[in-house]
Amino acid sequence: MKIFMIGFMGCGKSTLGKKLALKLGYPFIDIDKVIESRINMSIREYFEKNGENSFRELESSILKTTQLPENSIIATGGGAPCFFDNLEWMNENGTTVYLSLSPKALAKRLESATDQRPVLQNLKGEKLELFIADKLLEREKCYKQAELIVKGVDQTPERIIELLRTEDHLK
Ligand code: S3P
Repeated sequence: MKIFMIGFMGCGKSTLGKKLALKLGYPFIDIDKVIESRINMSIREYFEKNGENSFRELESSILKTTQLPENSIIATGGGAPCFFDNLEWMNENGTTVYLSLSPKALAKRLESATDQRPVLQNLKGEKLELFIADKLLEREKCYKQAELIVKGVDQTPERIIELLRTEDHLK
């Protein structure tokens, strides 16, 4: 089973995804990292040089063309499920897991990392939280189409495995 971790920047897709992969004995693939190694520059640099639209095209094509092992955990960029038919594609090719957190919790985690994320434009403090609240409201329409929605307290690898088993996504 391919498990796609989706959600806002800073929600823990990579951190939790890696732990989940370790517990299940599956390989872990980070689509952002695959993109950076293909373009040989950081995503921030790519945004600066080519703009967001070009990044979204690239992201979608890399998501759909990367060889993903049958059993694997895949972390996707925060915007990935909200562009083109990426979410539909992920739902057709595996199981999507949305890690849901409040704007406050996300802002706290992202405070020191806004410079690496072009979408966040170096915002800090209250401005960052307001921006996240706004963007999350817009993006939750797609995030909530995930097959499994996991709230804060349930965001441990053990609990996610239990939830996936209960819903018959894992044997
Ligand atoms: C983005 C999230 C980033 C990365 C890019 C755009 C977004 O990934 O793909 O900077 O639009 O939310 P993370 O969610 O892994 O930070």
